[in-house]
Amino acid sequence: MMASVAKTVQQLSIDGDEPPLPYIIKENTFGAIDTFPPLAEIPVIDISLFSLLPPSSSAHSPKEAEDELEKLRSALTSWGCFQAIGHGMPIAFLDKVREVTKQFFALPLEEKQKSSRPAGSVEGFGGDSVVSEKQVLDWCDRLSLRVYPEDQRKLYLWPENPKDFREILNEYSINIKSVAIILFTAMAKSLNLEENCFSKEFGERAIMQGRFILYPPCRRPDQVFGLKAHSDRSGVTILLQDKEVEGLQVLKDGKWLRVPVIPHALFVNLGDQMQVAMLENAENMAQSLLHTEMASLAKTAHELSIDGDEPPPRYIVKDSPFGSIDSSLPSAPVPVIDIGLLSSASSNEELEKLKSALSSWGCFQAIGHGISDSHLDKVREVAKQFFERPIEEKKKYSRAATQGEGYGGDLIVSDKQILDWSDRLALKVLPEDERRLDLWPENPDNFREILTEYAVKIKSIIDLLFKSIAKSLNLEDNTFLSQFGDRQVLIARVNFYPRCPRPDQVLGLKPHSDKSGITVLLQDKEVEGLHVLKDHQWFKVSIIPHALVVNVGDQMEIMSNGIIKSPVHRAVTNPNWLRISVAVSNEPEPEKEIGPADGLIDEQRPRLYRSVKDYAAINFECFQNGEIAIETVKIASQ
Ligand code: OGA
Ligand code: NI
Repeated sequence: MMASVAKTVQQLSIDGDEPPLPYIIKENTFGAIDTFPPLAEIPVIDISLFSLLPPSSSAHSPKEAEDELEKLRSALTSWGCFQAIGHGMPIAFLDKVREVTKQFFALPLEEKQKSSRPAGSVEGFGGDSVVSEKQVLDWCDRLSLRVYPEDQRKLYLWPENPKDFREILNEYSINIKSVAIILFTAMAKSLNLEENCFSKEFGERAIMQGRFILYPPCRRPDQVFGLKAHSDRSGVTILLQDKEVEGLQVLKDGKWLRVPVIPHALFVNLGDQMQVAMLENAENMAQSLLHTEMASLAKTAHELSIDGDEPPPRYIVKDSPFGSIDSSLPSAPVPVIDIGLLSSASSNEELEKLKSALSSWGCFQAIGHGISDSHLDKVREVAKQFFERPIEEKKKYSRAATQGEGYGGDLIVSDKQILDWSDRLALKVLPEDERRLDLWPENPDNFREILTEYAVKIKSIIDLLFKSIAKSLNLEDNTFLSQFGDRQVLIARVNFYPRCPRPDQVLGLKPHSDKSGITVLLQDKEVEGLHVLKDHQWFKVSIIPHALVVNVGDQMEIMSNGIIKSPVHRAVTNPNWLRISVAVSNEPEPEKEIGPADGLIDEQRPRLYRSVKDYAAINFECFQNGEIAIETVKIASQ
């Protein structure tokens, strides 16, 4: 990745750097940046008139409230946004929120980096994730934190400095939540909808995300955006603007307009449905904004299955590049390898077999792994028991809308996305001190113990495989292991595929390659469903009850300079039986850069991939953009 991008925007600004090229906008759908367009006459609405108290206890007449509702309706339909006053928060408190935000960004970089965004996550401190050289970057640094549901707060990412940051954010969140409830009710009323229709939609466990944004001074405000044009994916965004410095613009009827600063007002705008495009542009001075967003959680595949719903259109595979779903496929003759033999000295034959399996199929069935049948059955059993728990209980472990860890279905990034007929529970098992125990099921009561014990055993199998693969390629044993680091990450993912009435039209898991180094999959003991693609043809992977399916992931493909292929695979559903699988995979320490091993690069075989850091984040960003991650790291051949 380009060196210039490694600095935070604040650092670039302090150092007085000209904005580096990746920040400069070239062609823009909305035209050049006009830093001072006409003022937007956005309605100012007194939300105290929508108080949920009975009208008799209000100082205002019903007529006043009626008129304000009408104003709200017109604001929502013509602007999709408004400025809210009468929200009850004293200006001194709003100033305090601005103050702690400013103090946080004023801390030394090392201090702020204690809250750095972890790999593949959107929560934490950082700038844009850089995934492509074409990407135009935003001139801002951000700190993003989940505030609700409360049990999903990642306090380890909440700054400890300034001292009162957490307390102020907590208090602000409580206030914003009650503002949101008042707004939801009033919006519904003003649109003649059932009063609680929005609050119902968002539910008691609605997600609220706080986003603190610092726009440092910028020398080229005409060529650099603070935040590119976008609309919010949330339900409602409530924005506390900088008190002095303007910078927010909204698009109305094809023209950008300036949003004025009203120091005691909150800027409220609707998320995607109302299609309000927003833009904050990087005008000259430091300013900070606080976004608070709410989003809803939809029905899981399991609930759809239990309710006997036909799969909704979003699950139907239309023109898959891989053809229709045919579940009566030939079995893949993937090799069966006794990995117990790999560690012994006389293992050349088995090493050869390993190399050939991974360079042709990218996967194999592993026997001789040393995990007893009864332990494998126990893992399957606790996995099943977890998914049998009531939905309310499982939702306690819900994955945050933009995060990999926890319980839930697909990450939803676009309306066009086709969804998988599966629910998952993903948990980071190692490093041990990064376990999010709040996302680990408490029921069945041996879940944590069984899963940990299993995953740790798989870790030593993965280590053995890393060494054996290196050996089979005539490299020093630790070549790959040392790239991943001492604190490599181990993720366990329990996949639950409910019965599905339309297995010909709906996939359990879309075709993908794993982003990992290696993935070890414990298949269901009775129900098939895993398919692997080889030479443009799908094969099913048959069940060997005591075997583990091993497949390499993209990062091993990269490190092997393409000698080993990360196979494309998918999971199909069936109308009669549910299916459960447990995948355990490894990833490097997020700070480690991995790349093709030197010993595998020569004149005949030039370097095929660039070195990458935080491939999980690249993968996530590609997923959002509909790109295939491994393709974006390939070096174009001359
Ligand atoms: C996965 C995966 C396949 C299966 O979890 O990445 O490919 O059969 N699972 O569940
Ligand atoms: Ni997979």
